[in-house]
Amino acid sequence: MKKIVTLTVNPAIDKSTTVNGLKPHSKLRCTQPVYEAGGGGINVSRALNELGAESLCMYMAGGPTGDRLHDLLNDLDITQQVVPTADSVRENLAVTDIANNQQYRFGMPGPKINPSEWENTLRQLGAVLAEGDFLVASGSLCPDMPIDFYARVSKIAQKKKAKYILDTSGEALLKGAQAGVFLLKPNLGELAALCGVDTISFHELEPLAQTFLSKTPCEVLVVSLGAKGALLVTKDRTELIAAPIVHQKSTIGAGDSMVAGMVYALAQGKSLTEVVRYGVACGTAATMTEGTQLCKREDVEQLNKWIVSNAATMQKMEITV
Ligand SMILES: Nc1ncnc2c1ncn2[C@@H]1O[C@H](COP(=O)(O)OP(=O)(O)OP(=O)(O)O)[C@@H](O)[C@H]1O
Ligand SMILES: [Mg+2]
Repeated sequence: MKKIVTLTVNPAIDKSTTVNGLKPHSKLRCTQPVYEAGGGGINVSRALNELGAESLCMYMAGGPTGDRLHDLLNDLDITQQVVPTADSVRENLAVTDIANNQQYRFGMPGPKINPSEWENTLRQLGAVLAEGDFLVASGSLCPDMPIDFYARVSKIAQKKKAKYILDTSGEALLKGAQAGVFLLKPNLGELAALCGVDTISFHELEPLAQTFLSKTPCEVLVVSLGAKGALLVTKDRTELIAAPIVHQKSTIGAGDSMVAGMVYALAQGKSLTEVVRYGVACGTAATMTEGTQLCKREDVEQLNKWIVSNAATMQKMEITV
C-alpha cells in the first residue's frame, strides 16, 4: 500500500470544557478541560488511525503547546514529522453551556511563521513524498504564510507524482485548485466561493461543478453536502451519494473524517464510487459521536454496508437541497 502523508501547517490544541450558564461579567466555573490534538491534517491522521490505517502526520509546531501536541499524538501512536517553529501552536477553545446544550467555539488565528519555517516544510515534504503516495493537505494557513502555499505544495506533489487531496477554504483553496489537485473536497459554500457565486441551488450544482472542473487542473471533485451526502464529479460523470439518516450528536469533524475515509479507500485501490461512499460513511459516522470526536470504525462499517446495499434505491430518489 502506498503511504499516506497528512500536512497541517496551522495545528491546534483543542481544549473543551462545559459551563452551567454562559453569562457576561461573572466568573464562570468550568469543568476540567479535555485536550485534543487538532487541525485539519491531524484530524485526518487521527481518523485514519481509528480506521486502522497508518499515516505520516507532518505539521509545523513550536513552544510548550507544540510539545503538548506531540505528546497527544504519541499517545495515539501516530507517526509524526514535526517542522519546528519559533512561535507556539495555537489553543482553540470550545465551551458547551449545559443549561441549553449550546456549544461556543473560539478559534485562534495561529502563530507567527517565518519564511524559513514554511520553506523548510516544503523541503521536508519533498523529501518524504514518493511516487504514488497520497498527500492530504488540510486546514487553514497561519496568518503570515503566503496565500499560494497550497499551490506550492501542488508543485511538489506533481514533481513527486503523488496524489494530492486538498481541503481548505477561501483564497488558499482557490490558489491550490488552480495549481492542480488530484481530489478537491469543497463543501457547498466553499464551491460557491471557488465559482465566484454567493449560493448554489441544487439544479445549479452539477453544471457549476462541471464548468469548474473543465477550467481547473483537478481530476476529481467531491462536493460534500452535509446531511444530503456528497456529489462525485469527474470530467465525464456525476454521481450523488446520499448520506444515511442517523441520530446526530455533533457535526464537528465530519469533513475531516470524510477526507480520511476517502484517502483510506483510495490507498486500497477502490473505485471512485467506492471511495466517496466510504467517505460519506465516515463523515456521517462522525456526526454520531459527541463533541469533537471523529468517526468510530464500527459505525463506519455499518453505514458503508447500508450505503452500498441501498445505492440503487437512493439514486432513484429525488433529492432536493
Ligand atoms: N447532518 C448530517 N447527517 C448525516 N451525515 C452528515 C451530516 N453532516 C455531515 N454529514 C456527513 O459528513 C460529510 C461531510 O460533511 P459536510 O458537508 O458538512 O463537510 P464540511 O462542511 O467540510 O464539514 P466541516 O465543518 O467538518 O469542515 C457529508 O458528506 C456527510 O457524509
Ligand atoms: Mg470542511
